[in-house]
Amino acid sequence: MKLLRRTRGHRASASASGLVAVAALLASGTASAAPDAGIKASTLGAQAAQSGRYFGTAVAAGKLGDGTYATILDREFNMVTPENEMKWDTTERTRGSFDFAPADQIVAHATAHGQRVRGHTLVWHSQLPGWVGSITDANTLRGVMNNHITTEMAHFKGKVYAWDVVNEAFADGSSGAHRASVFQNLLGDGFVEQAFRTARSADPAAKLCYNDYNIEDWNAAKTQGVYRMVRDFKSRGVPIDCVGFQAHFGTGGPPASFQTTLSNFAALGVDVQITELDIAQASTTAYANTIRACWNVARCNGVTVWGIRDSDSWRSGDNPLLFDRNGAKKAAYNSVLTTMGGAPAATTGTADTAALPGSYSWSSSGVLMSPKPDSTHSIAGLKDPSVVYYNGKYHVFASVASASGYGLVYLNFTDWSQAASATHYYLDRTPIGSGYRAAPQVFYFAPQKLWYLVYQTGNASYSTNSDISNPNGWSAPRNFYASMPDVIKQNIGSGYWVDMWVICDSGNCYLFSSDDNGHLYRSQTTLASFPNGFANTVIAAQDSNKYALFEASNVYKVQGSSQYLLLVEAIGSDGRRYFRSWASSGLAGSWTALAASEANPFARASNVAFPGGSWTKDISHGEMVRAGYDQTLTIPSCRLQYLYQGKDPNAGGDYNTLPWRLGLLTQTNSAC
Ligand code: XIL
Repeated sequence: MKLLRRTRGHRASASASGLVAVAALLASGTASAAPDAGIKASTLGAQAAQSGRYFGTAVAAGKLGDGTYATILDREFNMVTPENEMKWDTTERTRGSFDFAPADQIVAHATAHGQRVRGHTLVWHSQLPGWVGSITDANTLRGVMNNHITTEMAHFKGKVYAWDVVNEAFADGSSGAHRASVFQNLLGDGFVEQAFRTARSADPAAKLCYNDYNIEDWNAAKTQGVYRMVRDFKSRGVPIDCVGFQAHFGTGGPPASFQTTLSNFAALGVDVQITELDIAQASTTAYANTIRACWNVARCNGVTVWGIRDSDSWRSGDNPLLFDRNGAKKAAYNSVLTTMGGAPAATTGTADTAALPGSYSWSSSGVLMSPKPDSTHSIAGLKDPSVVYYNGKYHVFASVASASGYGLVYLNFTDWSQAASATHYYLDRTPIGSGYRAAPQVFYFAPQKLWYLVYQTGNASYSTNSDISNPNGWSAPRNFYASMPDVIKQNIGSGYWVDMWVICDSGNCYLFSSDDNGHLYRSQTTLASFPNGFANTVIAAQDSNKYALFEASNVYKVQGSSQYLLLVEAIGSDGRRYFRSWASSGLAGSWTALAASEANPFARASNVAFPGGSWTKDISHGEMVRAGYDQTLTIPSCRLQYLYQGKDPNAGGDYNTLPWRLGLLTQTNSAC
């Protein structure tokens, strides 16, 4: 956003070649090597997402500190299953005393990296502490089982996408019956139903799965036994949402009937998932056959491999995984990626795994949010939105502008259709206070378990809050800088210091800002020092045509890839606002043009369809709807959504009184 009045009708020509690279930055005039909108991603998670699926792995808490392991995990996977940390012998080793610390570590890592979590597992005869196996009374066991399910699910409520409620209840061999276990022996077949009913009340939002091995062959008695149980549950309304096929295969891979099995289960009205895939010797054909069986079944919504490198596998002697001991991709990896429709990265190793296309098209909503003036706030424009989806709600922070200046407003709603009716809370009534506050950015800083609201006050300022939904919880403003950094003073000319933006990787946080004079600045501090210590301010990008690199920069991490996305708002040759985009493999650059010209813009009226009527010609200051909500600012790799400000094309006059309104762009050129 800009602080003061602008006249419309700038004759600015914002060509991609106008961007002058500085310091160590690459010249950005070259076209991006990013894949086209057919979208062949080069990582497992990003490619699975193209069809709305996930690609996951089992994770061991003790390995998160291993750099090679964590790098592959965060580059390739968008779902994680704790390999052992959520099992009974870890979480309730002695009766009534719960330890979630190892699992919490995995969940925190996943949250920080935009990965979802499968909970594994609540009721299982194995890795069960001795005290449970020693119970001899049915009522005691029922109480213990229900308490275990309820306590564990309550602890992880809202953080687990799907639970393996019951694991491996069926016997191998020809009986098609349940296996013996303390649960079966004391409670009978009904223990499974009991467990699912308890689980549904513990966390109604989590998907509830039954998980087992050797149920991939449609002709196996065990498969038939599980099928009869799921059919019975569905017919009687016992809550079950999914069936997990472990898929621990021998060298030949899946049985020929695997796809039939998946589709027959799916036809009962449950999702099906491959939950623990590993294949002895990892033949490319065996892996391809497994993935194909899933991709051919609409309700097969994800695959999880049981570990990252062969050396991480519980069957490491079989070399059954997709990465070798050194973390290099095996042939099976490429086979899986191409079977999903992806393309192996052109170069191996740490090269850029690009996930975003090089051109964009969008569909826009109509006006979703307008100013709601009250007796003490007379407002012309609702601007500069920041948005996170958290705890079942969209939380939006925005600037409110009027002839007398700028302030901040907060609103939340469960669905975009509810946005217009949301209550607007004016943050000048909170400790944030009144006076010049504008262009907010909100995120959760996971290391401190605190929400941050970053905004401009003339300096770069922030407030913190432990509860994003409580507007009164924000602290009074503090400044990131003692004063304007010298490099900005030297380059700002007659511009304004605006649009502060914070994003962190695993080691550092970066603060970007603009000067309405053709410069994008970047300061840096460590993750451990944040919010203090921002220094080393440099020009991250500049353009001799200030309108081509004007303001409202956004920087994001693209989920499941090593790509970062930079957006900067420009003023086009028609005087209208639009966004240009660049990509990089690191937050310190270098930035390579992605869709960065008026002819091939990231988002401009020319690549946006307005099914409900063209209410704006400006696509101006806004934010992407993120995949997560933490300081990594992770966005999905496809079906992007961008919340922006637009205005009546005929409106004119003083910049601060322009009638800005908020609308939502949804990407239309992605495959998912
Ligand atoms: C395995 C783990 O990978 C090992 O680390 C552990 O020692 C034993 O359990 N079926 C399951 C998984 O549901 O939980 C098992 O995981 C593999 C078989």
